[in-house]
Amino acid sequence: MSDTVPDRLGRPLRDLRVSVTDRCNFRCVYCMPREVFGRDYAFLPRAEILTFEEITRLVRVFVGLGVRKVRLTGGEPLVRRDLPVLVAELAGVPRLEDLALTTNGALLAAGAGRLAAAGLRRVTVSLDSLDDAVFRAMNGVAFPVERVLAGIRAAAAAGLAPVKINMVVKRGTNETSVLPMARFARDEGLVLRFIEYMDVGNSNGWRLADVVTADDLLATIDAVFPLEPLPPEQPGEVAGRYRYRDGAGEIGLIASVSRPFCGGCTRARLSAEGQLYTCLFAVRGHDLRAPLRGGASDADLEASLRSLWGERDDRYSELRSAGTTDLPRVEMFAIGG
Ligand code: GTP
Ligand code: 5AD
Ligand code: SF4
Ligand code: SF4
Repeated sequence: MSDTVPDRLGRPLRDLRVSVTDRCNFRCVYCMPREVFGRDYAFLPRAEILTFEEITRLVRVFVGLGVRKVRLTGGEPLVRRDLPVLVAELAGVPRLEDLALTTNGALLAAGAGRLAAAGLRRVTVSLDSLDDAVFRAMNGVAFPVERVLAGIRAAAAAGLAPVKINMVVKRGTNETSVLPMARFARDEGLVLRFIEYMDVGNSNGWRLADVVTADDLLATIDAVFPLEPLPPEQPGEVAGRYRYRDGAGEIGLIASVSRPFCGGCTRARLSAEGQLYTCLFAVRGHDLRAPLRGGASDADLEASLRSLWGERDDRYSELRSAGTTDLPRVEMFAIGG
């Protein structure tokens, strides 16, 4: 069993992002705007979602193909019942080196202890503002910021450290929150990553004019808290890293619009219903659930994954920057960002 499969652009498969549910308790303006995802929006029925056993089995096969890092996502992963049970199963998979979770933090105050005990290593919490009014408007369900802050504290206390924070910056919505967030993360010892607002999905009404670029963000922060660049920790890292010159920690800038990083992209994404996406912006996935439920052996699954990855030539963000793409896309909440 060879360990790494290069795709057509020579990129190995290293990371798997696993969406455990398409549901979410938030309605963020840039992801699931409430006008589109209202009360009668039809999420996936239970029977269509992969079971924990199915997810774990697939993860084992992926590890055989070179995956070393798994990140659980959603929707909101913590709305999936008994998630710590899955975490414990995945924590026992040999050769998997990193197991992380991206969450909106709403249920973290209650859940962090159990997740850590089950073997989760670290969490990334999405937080777009410290200003309660701005945060309530952006999450679409008027969720109070204080409860997410309690979740972040609980995660740190449970040892899910260093806690990373993701902040999506949307022009005219939360730019004024950038410096207060930087100050807060410095004070609390959190790694804050600023994400350029992306044209994922088809629902958020994305416009280039709403993007605050990484260069602009860097200049804003550097003017108050001087920064210097850091080398990447791992190849293919999504965030450009910078350190505060005064030693107060680091930030990340995720510039997928202004500085695409497809060249080093080693990520595959598994949706809650078992579709494999070879790009965040993929138009369609490849069904793994049918073979999984239809009696395929691990060797069969491995062979189809090997050929799927071998055929991969996705580099959407680079093509978008070159101005060539205007295709329908999968919704972000379906594959977890
Ligand atoms: P670490 O493992 O801590 O480095 O985290 P990560 O950056 O892999 O995971 P996280 O979920 O925190 O990702 C942060 C954000 O970066 C995602 O939510 C996306 O917005 C963006 N992102 C991650 N991977 C990709 C990718 O492959 N392509 C693009 N265009 N954006 C990505
Ligand atoms: N642009 C950039 N980031 C986004 N996320 C969700 N939608 C978008 C978008 N349109 C982020 C979330 C979360 C991560 C999983 O993806 O804020 O931090
Ligand atoms: Fe939910 Fe995350 Fe999408 Fe917000 S960004 S609606 S928290 S899945
Ligand atoms: Fe990878 Fe697609 Fe993102 Fe490029 S756009 S970095 S290929 S997921």
